[in-house]
Order: sequence, then C-alpha cells, then structure tokens
Amino acid sequence: MKVFEANITDQVSYFLNDTLKNTFSLEKANQEIFDRFGIRFFFNNDEELETLKKLISDTCISVEEPDRAEFGDFQTNLDLANKITIYLASKNISPELVIEPTCGKGNFIIASLNNFPDIKYLYGIEIYKPYVWESKFNIIDFFLSNPHVNKPEILIVHCNVFDFDFKKIAKEHSINNILVIGNPPWVTNSKLGSLNSKNLPKKTNFKNHSGLDAMTGKGNFDIAEFITMTMIQTFQNLKGNLLLLVKNSVIKNIIFDQSKNKFKISSIEKLCIDSKKEFNVSVEAALFYCKLNSPPTFECREFDFYENQVSKIKFGWLNDKFVSNIETYIHTKEIDGKCPFVWRQGLKHDCSSVMELDKVNGYYVNGLNEEVKLEEGLVYGILKSSDLKNEVINHSRKFTIVTQKSIGQDTKYIKTEYPETYQYLKDHTSYFEARKSSIYINKPLFSIFGIGDYSFKSYKVAISGLYKTFHFTLILPQDDKPVMLDDTCYLVGFDKIEYAIYTLILLNSDLTMRFLQSVTFPDAKRTFTKDILMRIDLLELAKQISKAELLTKIELLNIKYKLNVKLELWDSFIKEMIPRNSGQMAIFA
Ligand SMILES: C[S@@+](CC[C@H](N)C(=O)[O-])C[C@H]1O[C@@H](n2cnc3c(N)ncnc32)[C@H](O)[C@@H]1O
Repeated sequence: MKVFEANITDQVSYFLNDTLKNTFSLEKANQEIFDRFGIRFFFNNDEELETLKKLISDTCISVEEPDRAEFGDFQTNLDLANKITIYLASKNISPELVIEPTCGKGNFIIASLNNFPDIKYLYGIEIYKPYVWESKFNIIDFFLSNPHVNKPEILIVHCNVFDFDFKKIAKEHSINNILVIGNPPWVTNSKLGSLNSKNLPKKTNFKNHSGLDAMTGKGNFDIAEFITMTMIQTFQNLKGNLLLLVKNSVIKNIIFDQSKNKFKISSIEKLCIDSKKEFNVSVEAALFYCKLNSPPTFECREFDFYENQVSKIKFGWLNDKFVSNIETYIHTKEIDGKCPFVWRQGLKHDCSSVMELDKVNGYYVNGLNEEVKLEEGLVYGILKSSDLKNEVINHSRKFTIVTQKSIGQDTKYIKTEYPETYQYLKDHTSYFEARKSSIYINKPLFSIFGIGDYSFKSYKVAISGLYKTFHFTLILPQDDKPVMLDDTCYLVGFDKIEYAIYTLILLNSDLTMRFLQSVTFPDAKRTFTKDILMRIDLLELAKQISKAELLTKIELLNIKYKLNVKLELWDSFIKEMIPRNSGQMAIFA
C-alpha cells in the first residue's frame, strides 16, 4: 500500500490509524510520535497530518512511479545495508551520531538502528518527499517490530542535500562519535545537463576545472563525489567514521585529490561490491570507508566486501606519484618519469556519417550510404581503437577527409584546390552545423580537432585509450600517405621508421606493461590517457634494454612484416631523447 506515494506496511498503517484517529492537533501528533519513536517533527503542518489520517483510512492507493533518473536513485537493499553496518560494528565502531545525507527509503537508517546500540542522534536528509515518508514509516515499522531497541532522537528532513546546513550539526555535536553513512545519488553533472535538471550543487565547478576542461569532459563529475567531499570536509575534525557507497571512479578521485586536500582521514578502504547483484546495474561501485579526525593518509586498501575482506591491492600516492598498485609499482618505478616525445590524441570530427568513408569497388561510400566522388588530396586512411589489434598495421578499413593541417586553419582553400571535396562537404553542411560540442562554435566551416604536424608524420606508434590491452601498434603509411587515428587513440609520430620501431619495442616490453598495469585503473573510462602515457620515460627504458635483445626483436619484426630496419640509428635515437639545454627536442612531434 502507498501513502504520500511512499510504501507503508500494514503494521505502520494500522498503528498510525489507531494512534492518530483521535488526535487533532499537530503538536500532539508530533509529540506522540516523538515519545514513541524519537522522530522529531514527523508532520510538518496540519495539512500533512489530516491528509495522512484520511489516506490511511482508505485501502489501496496506487500511484505511478515517476522517472527519477536525475536523482541517481538506486536504493540500497536492507540486507546489504545490514551487512555494511555489521562490518563497521566488527571494527568496534559504535556511533552516537549517525548522518545519512541522502537517505532515500531509509535502509541505512534502519540498519544503523539495528546494529549500533549507542546512537543518540540520527539525521536523514532526502529530496524526494515520498521517500521522506517511507523512511519515517520504515522507522516506525522497525520499532514496532523491535520494541526494545534503543530509540535515539531522529530527524528526517525533506531538503536538498546542497542546501542542508551540515556545519551546524558538526558544531552542535562536536563531542559525539559520528558516523556518516549512505549511498549518495549515482548521477553525473553532464547527465543532469542532458536531463535539464537543477539537481546540482551551487558551485558546480567545485574542483576548479577551467572552462576548457569542462568542455572536454574533465569537468564531468559525480554528484556523489561532491557530496562525499562535502561530508569529509565538514566532519573531518570530529571523532568518527565515514562510509559511503559510491562509484569506483569517485573513490579514485577522492584519493587522487587527497594530495591537495589533505583531509584528516586515514585507514581508507575500498570494499568492492557486486552492483549487478545488489542494484541490477552494471556500474563499478564500492564502499568508501575512512576514519575521521586522524593525520591525513594518501593510500587506499582495496578489498572484496564479500570475501572475508582479504586485501587485494593498495593504491594511491607513493611520494609524489599516483599509482593503481603500490606493490607492483615499486618494481617498475624507475621508468616513471617524462616521455621525451609528446603523446597526442587522434583526430576528432563528430560527423561520422559525412566524414567516415569506406572504399567499395574503388569508390568512397559515406555513412549515409551515398557514393562520393572526391579528389584524393584530402582523403587519408584512418584507424579506430578496434583496428589496433596487431603489432604493425599498413592499411586501413576506413578513410576520412582531413580538412585542416592545424586547429583553426582557414578551410576556404578547399574550394579552389579540391572543388569536388568542397562540393561534397558543402552539400552536407547541415551535418557539420548539427555538431553539439561547443569546440566547433566560431570555427571555420568543416573544422576538425586533434590535428597538427604530428598527424602527418609517416610512422606512428599508437595505443587505444579505451581498451585494456597493454600493447602498442606501429602504423605504417598507406599508399605513401600517413594514416590517421581517431580520437579514441593516442599516438607519437616519427619521420624515421627506425625511431618508430625502437619506440615500439620499448613500449611493448614487459617492464612497460608492468608499469602501465601499476598506474592504470581497469574501471576507468579511458584506461590510457595522455597524462599516463607521458609518464613513460622512454630514455630510462632504453637504458634497460640490451642491444642483443633489441637486435633479436628488430629481426623478428623485419621477418614478420617484411621490413628492413637496422640498429644503426639507435645512438642517434638516444641522443634525440636527451633533453637539450633549451628543453626542446628536435623530434618533438
Ligand atoms: C542512490 S539513492 C540511495 C538512497 C539511500 N541512501 C540508500 O542507500 O538506499 C540516492 C538518493 O539520493 C536522493 N537525492 C538525489 N538528489 C538529492 C539531493 N539533491 N538532495 C537530497 N537527496 C537527493 C535520491 O532521491 C535517492 O533517494
């Protein structure tokens, strides 16, 4: 049965009906509930009291469930909430003050009441009124079924978590042993943007990302991350603990930001849960646990929540390096430095139906299935992440039109130099105009991004940013033209095949693989990023490999791919990687 769109058990409904049928004043009704269950301000006004009384005397009220996507609504089941509180109790955690910042239907509140006997005050905050009611009903249900358990003073507040004054609680209860517990909304600000939702903190740029970062996606943050950070910041000076169920990415970000935030938290744990089983969603999520009011620590132990909490790995900061596995990193850290070559992201056009071409019987065919006539001048082969399977590639399945040689280059030249290409692009202007990203605003017609001198280097060593395969690919020219990569890939470009082969061998070495495994996070959206790749110190790697080993590997590649690469340029390759006085290197792409 539902009341105020909230589920209510028969037990609670009969009880409320019985208790309130002869109660006509708001104060009396609230006092009655407070005396029995410790819940303060159960009814906010007379109207709520009267409506509830009327509703519980009706039988079945069916209400359609609204779409709650903007509230990242994934209610924790009571069984999991109980297991989590039992886990905390096993650490001798017994709070006097419990705070659930976005309490939903209240299962963490019930689990806390069930497993922490010393609670004196409990606060739950929730934006969705039916859940506020459901929490309150569930609390009454719990107390009716467990009449002898401790009844703290409880306040369930209907409020936006971003407006709630947590600092006031921190001040009022500065001597209490506190526990912040819950499961904040699973939603990102970009998802909220797409839903046109206002469910955002006022300062959305809370990590001080620049406008450009925000445009390129770095400013995309989880609402849960903001809430977790706020809770830590507010309560870090109080004795107690914090446990919040969040996405893995949120935990990683909090540990990453800990180097600058230096929050007073320690004993940090990531306890992995099975979100498919618990929430029926395929999202990597875990419990983030930390002790408050302790000297700041910068690493996190990772456990499986279900398997006796055996620690799998430890990640975080080791001196000034952020790594995904501290144990394995220690054995590879000598190559953690700065790559002498600049890693670049591939080409971006956001217009695949027009810009992505197949070659069928000598003709180009676009994504709209149109046969297209173009001059060859601006057409280049292009590879995507899924193409980078082999160690060496010399031809592409797809082609693209490279309209610019550098970002922002005027595209008027296409009309005179490549009239057919121009006509084709012009005929499809509307597709370019429909591109949503703000990077294309006020840019020349048919603009692309991820383009520069490096795009036109004949030999490229590349890796997919998306895939979890730790192998690099050498890309050779196709029909004497350099092959492009799309923006899911990262590349370094060379004029000499020798340099590219040496780089390939170094990057595909066992040491590089172990290093990358120690610094990348398998659940990241992009396993490899420019920042990660720039950490591979190729010069140091080159010092670790013997010439005999190099020769063997070069020979194998020569035979397999019919190449004719020698070791003769090795010394000049090394020289190129040694920083010059100016700090510039000749082969910087
Ligand atoms: C992932 S659910 C978890 C609910 C509850 N903590 C639990 O563990 O079952 C997130 C909850 O946050 C609530 N919520 C979303 N945005 C909120 C906001 N701005 N202020 C307060 N609550 C919010 C949602 O309505 C939802 O109940």
